[in-house]
Order: sequence, then C-alpha cells, then structure tokens
Amino acid sequence: MKSIAVIAAFILLGILTAIFSGYNLPVSTSPIVHDDEQDGISDRVIIRFSHVAAENTPKGMAARYFAEAVETKTNHDVHVEIYSNGEIYQDQNEWEALTNGKVEMIAPATAKLSTRFPNWQVLDLPYAFPTYQAVQEAYDGKIGKELMKDLTQSNAKGLGFWYNGFKQFTNDTHPILQPEDMEQLHFRTMPGPTIKAQFDALNTSTSQLSFNKTYRNLEVDFIDGQENTVSNIYSKKFYQEQKYMTISNHAYLGYAVLVNEQFWNKLSKTHQKAITEANKETTDWVRRHSIEINDSHIRQLKRTTDIQIDTLTNNQYQKWEKAFSPVYFQVEKSISSSLMKEVHRIQENYSSP
Ligand code: LMR
Repeated sequence: MKSIAVIAAFILLGILTAIFSGYNLPVSTSPIVHDDEQDGISDRVIIRFSHVAAENTPKGMAARYFAEAVETKTNHDVHVEIYSNGEIYQDQNEWEALTNGKVEMIAPATAKLSTRFPNWQVLDLPYAFPTYQAVQEAYDGKIGKELMKDLTQSNAKGLGFWYNGFKQFTNDTHPILQPEDMEQLHFRTMPGPTIKAQFDALNTSTSQLSFNKTYRNLEVDFIDGQENTVSNIYSKKFYQEQKYMTISNHAYLGYAVLVNEQFWNKLSKTHQKAITEANKETTDWVRRHSIEINDSHIRQLKRTTDIQIDTLTNNQYQKWEKAFSPVYFQVEKSISSSLMKEVHRIQENYSSP
C-alpha cells in the first residue's frame, strides 16, 4: 500500500514537472515577496567598466578608486563592475563595445583613439611633454579640451584623462643607448600614426599587437622588444622575456576616460554630478600616485629580476631628440595647427627630463 502511494507521488511529480517545464509556466503564481534590500538592488545603475591593464597598475588602481567613490557619492545607487586585464574586451574591440553599449565605460591609452581622431596623435609626439607638469598642462589645458571636443562626433563622452607614466624601451638583443641601437629590431606597438612614425624614424620595424598578446609574442621571439610604462612592464612580466630596459622617458602613456553617451544622457543629473566628482577625485589621486606606483615597480625590477636597466645620459638624450625630429614633420600635417602651437609652447616652457 505504502509503495503504491510512493509510485503515485512520483507519477504526479513527473506530470507536474512536464507541465511546468514543457509550457514554461511559472512554478509559483503567488506574488514574489521583495524586501527593501532586493528593491534597492534591482534599482541600481550598473556601470560595466572594461580595461586591459593589470589590477596593480595606475589604471587598475584608479578604476577601483573610482568604483568606490561612485558607490559612496551615489549612496550605492550606482555600482561599477570592473573587468580588468582584457577579461571581456581587448584593445581592438573595446571602442566598439563602448559605443554599442556592451559596456558603459572604458579607459584606453590615448594612442588607441588616434587612428579614429587624428588630433589625438599629438599626445604621442616624442618628447613633446617632457615632464609630469607638462603632461598635466596638456591634459588640463587647451589640448585636453580640444581633444575631448573631437569625441562629440561619436557615441563616446570623454570624462577626462587618467595618468600612468613615461614609456621606456625594452628588448632582448642589446642595450639601447643610441638611436642607432634600434635599427633592425622588431617592436610591438600600440596603434597610431605618431607611434609608427617614431619607430620609422629609428629604422625599427613594428607590429601592432594587443597589449595582452605582447607577452606571448615576446616569448616566441616574434618581436624583439616593446615600449611601455614601468608598471605595465612589471605587472605583465615582460622582464621575464626581455634582457634590457632603457629609461628613455620618450613619450607619455595616459588614458582617456570614456563613457557611453546614450547611457550618460539617461542618468539623472544627481548621478551625473556624483560620477563627475568621483572622476575628478580619481584623476587627482592617480596623478599623484602613478609616479610612486611606477617608482615602486622599478625598485622591484631592480631587486627581484635580472633585467639590465640603463638610463639615457643628457648627451644621449639630445641625440634621441634629434632622431625624432622627422616625426614632427610627418605628423604635424594631420594635427590642427592650434594644437601644434600649444605643443611648442609647452615644450619651450618645460625643460627636458
Ligand atoms: C598598451 O597597449 O601598451 C597600453 O595601452 C596598456 C594600458 O592600457 O596601459
């Protein structure tokens, strides 16, 4: 008797399961009870923020700082989800991901905008902004404002610039001290006509590769070297595949902080204000801390790795500056003349590194 009851219960359960899953009926028709906490979560605005750098770099840490500042300033109404290390989008597709609304924010290196917006090439001109103050003046002043204006033709809104550091050369062939030492080498580069012209001027062949493919290409010797900030060299372990690094400080690598424009326009004025303030605080923080983060990574490289680190002397620096002059002739043509005038003004105001 008992076993008949058990079998009947199984059959009934089977029929009910078939009905519910077969017709996709809701399992319960009684109203779902929400508590206050759940209501809060479903109302939250989510910002998906994708970037390609590691967590322990100026950009990785700035993204965390920004996320916390946004949460605090919006009373947890807006939540920033960070996807670092190119976890969901790489250099080549993060712009599309942003403008198509697959993510709400990205912060690409400024060079990565220079193929779409020619004026952005200005920021990669070698030795154009030779000190940290010069870089800040470019970002905060006329240059930054004009560049951000260019973005208004797109579905990306520029919130500002974040800082990383000056680029250095690494390679696994020989120390690079003179411009001629770059001849015949093959380097990984970010995209952008200025960067291409810079390596052309040094007779170095190049391949544009995404940041997160650089290590593998160094490992298989497809490329001899690359240029990057110390924090990127350290965090991505390029030193494991590179014997030499030159502190050349030849150009600055910073970031454009971008938000999807349609998403932005749908935000309340209160949230827009809070995010703008959070970004301002983050910018101040990363400007002050990026120098220390890069310095601490160079100390780590010296202490814990075998990479040979050479610093250019003043005499050598002057040779590099001369070697880069064709880059200006080539690139100036595609940059607005008012921007070039501003570059020359800043260059004259700040002494060489
Ligand atoms: C690179 O591609 O080398 C850098 O843009 C990576 C980054 O975002 O710092």
